Amino acid sequence: MDGRATSASGAVLTRRRFFEGLAAYGGVSLAMAGMDALGYGFASAQAAPPPLEGGGKGIKVVVLGAGLAGLTAAYELTKHGYDVQVLEARDFAGGRCQTARKGFRHVDLLGNDQTCQFDEGLYINHGPWRIPYHHRSTLHYTKLLGVPLESFVNDNDAAYVYFEKGEGPLKGKPVRKGEIAADARGHAAELMAKVAAKGGLDGAFTAQDRDLFVAYMVNEGRLSPSDLAYSGTDGRGFDVHPGAGVSPGPGKPSTPRSMADVLHSGAWRTLTSVAGYEQQRTMLQPIGGMDQLAKAFERKVADKISYSCVVETIGQDAKGVKIGYRDAAGKKAEVVADYCICTIPLSVLRNVDLQASKPFKAAMEGVAYAPVNKIGLQMKRRFWEEDHFIYGGHIYNDMPGIGTISLPSTGWQSQKGVLLGYYSFGGEAARISAKSPAERAAFAVAGGQKVFPEYADAYENAFSFCWHLAEHNLGGWAEWGEEGRKTAYPVLCEPDGRLYLAGEHLSYLGGWQAGAIESAWQQIAKLHARVRAA
Ligand code: ALA
Repeated sequence: MDGRATSASGAVLTRRRFFEGLAAYGGVSLAMAGMDALGYGFASAQAAPPPLEGGGKGIKVVVLGAGLAGLTAAYELTKHGYDVQVLEARDFAGGRCQTARKGFRHVDLLGNDQTCQFDEGLYINHGPWRIPYHHRSTLHYTKLLGVPLESFVNDNDAAYVYFEKGEGPLKGKPVRKGEIAADARGHAAELMAKVAAKGGLDGAFTAQDRDLFVAYMVNEGRLSPSDLAYSGTDGRGFDVHPGAGVSPGPGKPSTPRSMADVLHSGAWRTLTSVAGYEQQRTMLQPIGGMDQLAKAFERKVADKISYSCVVETIGQDAKGVKIGYRDAAGKKAEVVADYCICTIPLSVLRNVDLQASKPFKAAMEGVAYAPVNKIGLQMKRRFWEEDHFIYGGHIYNDMPGIGTISLPSTGWQSQKGVLLGYYSFGGEAARISAKSPAERAAFAVAGGQKVFPEYADAYENAFSFCWHLAEHNLGGWAEWGEEGRKTAYPVLCEPDGRLYLAGEHLSYLGGWQAGAIESAWQQIAKLHARVRAA
């Protein structure tokens, strides 16, 4: 009997004990299996910089680009005695590791000139914005450089999913992710449990495994153990929340949606989005903006960086490299060095007069760069917290060009907030980026309004960024296809003469700061081995 029919609170307790028992059993065996399989060793390939033993005194390295790859290379090489000079095209360091706050100016390739108008203390990370717990290279530097972190809410059961292309009663209706998750899992588990209990899966199981599988389905779907029925769960929330006294007392459980409604809504598609390795909890962010990481690096190597220097030529011979650039005053200048570490994105490097072998240059053509858009919207009131009880996380949706709407993981319960109004890639991103900043903001606000009735009223101002329209990036990140990975990528990972490339594009952590850092570590290790062998 489902205890809910007689006493909601009693049923919850009974079920909870049952589930806790199962979880304890499953937890231990899972933990052991996991540790055995992984030999305790699950971590990013490189968790610490190479030791560069013996140092590099007397060797000059010119680093092109002061993004995270360039900053990493400059910091480590300088620490080990190398003579380092960094040429950076922008007038600040960090590359894509940027944060827009009051006064931040960006002029894109279409001539859109924006200066961020957010209130003091508010910001948007229009580049990298989250750090997975297993990106130990990034976390190596946040710790070493004293960059304080806070949680980035990457998964939130209370956040809405909004699907307007689905069918049925959930079409175009914001629904909390936890409801969809509970109902999808509950109904699916009920079906599986009933089929298995009747022997329908006996070909796949021993009798003991079948019983365990049914137990697992009961646990997975929060089913009633007696009749294997899914009739809702407190995990999907309440119609009346439990509270004090007799009323609301135990509250009123919510009613599950039918399997058909969940299926036809399409919203179940979002449920696995944070299950992948890249997106799992715990996710972190620097307090005060992602650029705190860039700034911490910059403080260590600022005297090595020449700002507003745009590289035009990269020459080399058997003895060294010669870099031609235009300085802040627009004057042509040159720097010579023994080696070059070039972190300029391939999308930009293709337009530089580069002296490199034919195969190397051909390989540079083997990758595409992703159009990527973000927009920060300042809201005069944190209605998502105040009216909807949503603290961080993403509003997954199927609105073209909106991608995800994301709520800030900082400044809880303060007055105003900046949320991410869209985060889109590919063709949709290219389409939206053709709009003016005001039109982009209007587009974003109209999208959000479909989910939150308070959106347009609360909106104050916006700052949008299109990475494919950023002069020194020409794309959000490198996107390798299968063929390019096989043929071009390995060529670019090796030096061409005295030129070493580094950046997220030379990693399997594409579009992540860890890719840039670990690529720099790998290349400086190779360069150092060569220097020591010479
Ligand atoms: N690494 C990028 C992100 O976190 C793609 O959204």
